[in-house]
Amino acid sequence: MLLSSTILQCLLSITTEKNKADMKIHHIGYLVKKMEKALPRFEELGYSVERESVYDEYRKADIAFLAMDGYRIELVCPHKESDVYPLLKKLGNTPYHICYETEDPEGDIARLKNSGYTAFTDIQPAPAIGGEAKVIFLIHSRMGIMELLMT
Ligand code: NI
Repeated sequence: MLLSSTILQCLLSITTEKNKADMKIHHIGYLVKKMEKALPRFEELGYSVERESVYDEYRKADIAFLAMDGYRIELVCPHKESDVYPLLKKLGNTPYHICYETEDPEGDIARLKNSGYTAFTDIQPAPAIGGEAKVIFLIHSRMGIMELLMT
């Protein structure tokens, strides 16, 4: 009994190790109806503005980055023509995606697709992050929305 549970634990740890993605959390995306109203509410909680709000033509949304305690929050204020505008209408102000930084976009995208994720955007520039940053969005019926960031 003891032996078999040890073997099981060992197998589990090997499986977990194998499946563990080498991806770091970059930010949590947070839908807001009005940027100018939401931002001060976050600031009064102690968040500081890391990147001022800019219009992202790919996401058709105003996007600002805030930081606190080593956590980064992306405020996303979608315009009416944005893909996530209906989500905002349905849910109101709410966190809605986690963005992971990947060092191996091809490998991670393939692995995630294998695990049941579907990409619902192409790989596109992310002007609010700046530089060479590109992102892709994926969705899983049991996980919701995930963003992958390539810098
Ligand atoms: Ni994001």
